[in-house]
Amino acid sequence: MDEPTIPERAHPRGRGARQTRLDIYVDRYATRTQRMKASEIRALFAVASRPEVVSLAGGMPNISGLPLDAVAETLGELVVDRGTQAMQYSSGQGDPGLREQICTVMALEGVAAHPDDVVVTVGSQQGLDLITRVFCDPGDVVLCEAPSYVGALGVFGSYECEVVHVAMDDQGLQPEALRHTIDIVRAAGKRVKFLYTIPNFHNPAAVTLSAQRRTQVLDICADADVLVVEDNPYGLLGFDTEPMRAIRADGPERVVYLGSFSKTFAPGFRVGWVVAPHAVRDKLVRAQETATLCPPTFSQLAVSAYLANHDWRGQIKSFASMYREHRDAMLAALDEHFPTTASWTRPAGGFYVWVTLPSGLDAGAMLSRAVTARVAYVPGTAFYADGNGTTAMRLSYCYPTPERIREGVRRLAGVMGTELELREMFGATGPGLPSRGYSSPNTDLT
Ligand SMILES: Cc1ncc(COP(=O)(O)O)c(C=O)c1O
Repeated sequence: MDEPTIPERAHPRGRGARQTRLDIYVDRYATRTQRMKASEIRALFAVASRPEVVSLAGGMPNISGLPLDAVAETLGELVVDRGTQAMQYSSGQGDPGLREQICTVMALEGVAAHPDDVVVTVGSQQGLDLITRVFCDPGDVVLCEAPSYVGALGVFGSYECEVVHVAMDDQGLQPEALRHTIDIVRAAGKRVKFLYTIPNFHNPAAVTLSAQRRTQVLDICADADVLVVEDNPYGLLGFDTEPMRAIRADGPERVVYLGSFSKTFAPGFRVGWVVAPHAVRDKLVRAQETATLCPPTFSQLAVSAYLANHDWRGQIKSFASMYREHRDAMLAALDEHFPTTASWTRPAGGFYVWVTLPSGLDAGAMLSRAVTARVAYVPGTAFYADGNGTTAMRLSYCYPTPERIREGVRRLAGVMGTELELREMFGATGPGLPSRGYSSPNTDLT
């Protein structure tokens, strides 16, 4: 069969050259691109977004409850009243008015920041990128929970960092494991640049770091002189409790804090922020200027106007109560349909449930059969940098309706039942135990 061709004029070697789908730049990319893997979640989106598939995979916020007419009015006023400012370049650190409002938001979690300490970013994802750019050289170690947020692992990989996982349990990161891991990494002659942690309603593990452990983690990092990067997009989305005190609240010099409006308002504006000690903040602003000149002015002023004109606290409560209903639907369906040999977290907020499969099942191997049965999830290995997580999966309840969640879990239980029957009939066919680096496997997350 002939090779597929594209028009000659698009060919980078000039007119007349024959173009194939082979990448002619393959030997020219920077080494770091080898670490930029396509996200497992993104690869899934294409299939999972078909209407017949119940996607329990992606963590898209469910913004159907936003009062769009009122938001439209606010945006219209923004264009009419301040359009020339909103559509102009602006400060690399971010709009001063928005930074002040961000301080009010963070006060809900005990953070007493000054607007000067805040850098506005293009979502907290860009905050992660800037922090890593500012701190990490190739080979530097970043400590991450086991498991950890797939988007953060992607950033750390792209800057050629070595990710070393630290064990968690149902109270979050284990302080003793943290201390031990720092010692082991240092004994191996490596530099720990920071601990990356998601203390509230963890993505993907769905657990929350207890108050006592927050103090312990901060003390351990202070003793060991390790910076803490606290990523907190879900902290205000608790179902039954008041927001917990942020780690940053008790260690402003030791902690860089990341926040986001993606889950409490809407992700499409791409507005997040970083709060950092002064010297770090200066570096972040310079990095922000080289990356984007300034974060998008229009988005910032839109978020700022939303915060000024709307009951944003009430909207967060309404999001949380919707997500609680979704969580309840998922937990009830898991209780009803899943085998007792599987276990899962019971989240008190956020978007996710972390499932540990019955012994011997491999979530990655099972995925294609699940998609055939019209249900999708994210296999646990996506959340580890070291190959662990084969027996786990992340289920998201944020986006689908409760009815679809119930149906998705029912389908998934059917797939799992068939897998278990096959195993019983033919014995184990999956891979053996995952390999371990320094990390401890996340087997006790139940
Ligand atoms: C833990 C965590 N951090 C950061 C992000 C990035 O969020 P955004 O860039 O939309 O603020 C996400 C998104 O899902 C997340 O779950």
